[in-house]
Amino acid sequence: MTAAAKPASVMPPIAFVDLAAQRKRIGGAIDAAVVKVLAHGQYIMGPEVAALERALAAFCGAKHVVSCASGTDALVLPLMAYGIGRGDAVYVPSFTFAASAEVVALVGATPIFVDVLADSFNLDPASLAEAIEGTPKHLKPRAVMPVDLFGQPADYNAIEAIARDRNLIVICDAAQSFGASYRGRKVGSIGHVTGTSFFPAKPLGCYGDGGAVFTDDEALAHRMRSLRVHGQGSNKYENVAIGLNARLDTIQAAILIEKLKIFPEEIAARDAVATRYQRGLGNAVATPPVLPGNTSVWAQYTVKLGDRDRLANTLKAAGVPTAVYYPAPLHRQPAYRDFPSAPGGAPVSDDLSRSVLSLPMHPYLETTTQDRIVAAVRGAP
Ligand SMILES: Cc1ncc(COP(=O)(O)O)c(C=O)c1O
Repeated sequence: MTAAAKPASVMPPIAFVDLAAQRKRIGGAIDAAVVKVLAHGQYIMGPEVAALERALAAFCGAKHVVSCASGTDALVLPLMAYGIGRGDAVYVPSFTFAASAEVVALVGATPIFVDVLADSFNLDPASLAEAIEGTPKHLKPRAVMPVDLFGQPADYNAIEAIARDRNLIVICDAAQSFGASYRGRKVGSIGHVTGTSFFPAKPLGCYGDGGAVFTDDEALAHRMRSLRVHGQGSNKYENVAIGLNARLDTIQAAILIEKLKIFPEEIAARDAVATRYQRGLGNAVATPPVLPGNTSVWAQYTVKLGDRDRLANTLKAAGVPTAVYYPAPLHRQPAYRDFPSAPGGAPVSDDLSRSVLSLPMHPYLETTTQDRIVAAVRGAP
């Protein structure tokens, strides 16, 4: 009996994301870093927080890095710092995680849903232009929030050209793409400001919630540092703005410093997994292209096919975990369907929500395990 033909029950389980494998590699260094924080006891804004911000800035080339408590806060902070709120329109792709639009509504502004491109899953510049044209009269176009879905940057040249024309702020939702690049520009140094997430399953994740904002705009960074701590002024008990408690814990910063050291190797390993999937899967499903000039960090490896649910069930029976990101576009979600969409709607987002399936993806996916996954996809009826 070949490996692929053994019943799933006797095969080792496959992890969708294998955080334990990474712990085997650097768990000792991470534990030592955490113990160091326990020893100095500066749990809030300890020295590791500033050290991480410096390391992240050096990694991506941004002038200023403001770490924060989550990827969601990493989008709320720039929106607040720009004073975006009631009466403002922010253009957001419909095919994304809810947080991308949630933050816009949370600050009182109106998300306007834009369609995405079928190949990259990212914001469609033509739909953005239409959405801007069709903006309801009572709203002022203020910002666009491209999302780098599944780890690949959006088409920033096209988006920035439109944004320049219409005087829009570009707030990049790079929750899934930190470590990737667009035409030689690293994520974190694109647009006016970029937010990322360190949720544990993200390409660079901590052991809880965390995030960071990147910008070259010193005044903006200054406002975000204040907003992150209750709108603090020149001293602890001066409040110059209504802010948040959005600080990154020192322990999470210490963990991220260790993880950042091996991040470039992990990105290369993710890329090798993606290349192997593409070769192995051939035409069995539509594999995700990396567009010319882009690199991806493969937050997800997402394929497309007609009968997605049937393949998901077949793979489950073969012991291969899968996930659907995202089963409904935001413009169809109960919380968001009353917000406006581009005049042509978001038909590609609708199609994708019915056809996408994400396969196991992490830097420690062994070739034998990957062969098992590929064989299960290819052998599916
Ligand atoms: C595209 C996108 N934006 C925002 C977020 C929010 O990040 P967090 O969960 O760290 O708040 C996520 C997290 O999954 C995401 O995928």
